[in-house]
Amino acid sequence: MPSPWKIGMFQSMGLMGAWRLPENTSTSFLDVDHWVRMARSLEAAGVDFLFFADDYGYPVVDDAIPDAALRTAAQFPKGDPMAVLPALATVTEKLGLVVTLSTTVEKPPMVARKMATLDHITRGRIGWNIVTGAGQNASARLFGIPLIEHDKRYEIAADHVDLSLKLWEGCWDEGGLVVDRERPMFADPERVREIEHHGPHFDAKGVLTIPPGPQRTPTLFQAGTSAPGRDLAARYAEAVFLAAEPEAMAEQIADIRRRAEAYGRDPRSIKCLVAGTFYVAETEEEALRIRARQSSTRSLEEAAALYAFYTGLDLSGMDPEKPLDPKAGLTQTGRTNVERFLGPNAPTVREILEEFQRNSVMGAPYIGTPEQVVDEAAAVIERIDADGFLVQPDHTGTFESFTALVMPEMRRRGLVAPIEQPAMTLRERLGGGGPHLAPEHPGAAYRSVPAAL
Ligand SMILES: Cc1cc2nc3c(=O)[nH]c(=O)nc-3n(C[C@H](O)[C@H](O)[C@H](O)COP(=O)(O)O)c2cc1C
Repeated sequence: MPSPWKIGMFQSMGLMGAWRLPENTSTSFLDVDHWVRMARSLEAAGVDFLFFADDYGYPVVDDAIPDAALRTAAQFPKGDPMAVLPALATVTEKLGLVVTLSTTVEKPPMVARKMATLDHITRGRIGWNIVTGAGQNASARLFGIPLIEHDKRYEIAADHVDLSLKLWEGCWDEGGLVVDRERPMFADPERVREIEHHGPHFDAKGVLTIPPGPQRTPTLFQAGTSAPGRDLAARYAEAVFLAAEPEAMAEQIADIRRRAEAYGRDPRSIKCLVAGTFYVAETEEEALRIRARQSSTRSLEEAAALYAFYTGLDLSGMDPEKPLDPKAGLTQTGRTNVERFLGPNAPTVREILEEFQRNSVMGAPYIGTPEQVVDEAAAVIERIDADGFLVQPDHTGTFESFTALVMPEMRRRGLVAPIEQPAMTLRERLGGGGPHLAPEHPGAAYRSVPAAL
């Protein structure tokens, strides 16, 4: 029996879907009730997790934010999703909550402490999406630091995760927390210690001052599929987000699994999740109509601003009839969305813009009746050896059509887990063998006393 698909839902704390349409509700993104409603509805539908993308970037062209980015809200605005997570933890019991923190911007002890705290607050349902960060050119300007070159950002990321793992796994043994008021003994000095780390980018000596939560280490996600990104995923990730055409994703997944094996990990222990948008309705005509309605709201200037955000490249200043100059692949901002448009059948700049106008960073959407989209989804999963989906919001900014129409169809076919499941950690929900990191994960090597499972 193949294991059930894992289903996560994509949001960022900003405008989602086609925000200009009246039926879109994401303009309420600063209203906590908007998120509470969404989390409750996803939990009721038996979705595995809600993911919040995040970064400090926005489009920058010629050292300024383009007017188009402000007018069309291209990767702008963005609130901090960390602020809303505790509210969602209190109104749900089973839904995983996954959030991005960038290894380029945040320091390891900050990430370790925030995530360890959230592991308690969510009762073991927190996940960390490890990224070096989209929109790096903007983010570097904002923080007043030089833009760190692309591959070096990934070297920093590996060192960052290594130190964070030491803090989560190495400081507190099982039984380290005592809380005996009489003796007194809050923590047992024999079982709690400072770790030391002398890596290529981080030096640290210290202790994580709070005891481990149910998972110890948050469930580790990764996004960013340039070659060093895939390597980072293979070393540390328990789940990976991918977005591209199926052929490209098939290669990326095969590569991640190969590299994982070389790192001594079970390649199947990494859940590869395909980012996909579903336009679904009772009839195919209606689904096509919704898709057309959504498409009508995105202009070419918005597409150019979006492309600039992801890659640092200004397509509007290039010859529309030529493909990208191969040197574009050396951009020091994100590379995933440059590399996917290079090579033998490279599209022209005009075609790239049109593709971004249609689908932005996502592959082609799934459009049709519930039966049609699930047929197509099943074909993709099988063809590329993936483990599930990271569902993008539809034109409304949320997921009502997916939860009402697609989840039941997937469940009817036995493709996703039943709704009635006991509460468990996110790691277990995604198919991990227990609440803690698998023994072959590099983080497990930092435990001084093996964690009791
Ligand atoms: C589904 C999905 C979600 C992502 N979420 C984030 C995110 O929250 N923050 C971020 O900075 N990058 C995110 N990324 C990755 C960026 O798009 C970008 O590829 C990466 O940060 C730069 O790395 P690269 O050079 O390997 O592409 C996501 C990618 C995908 C496919």
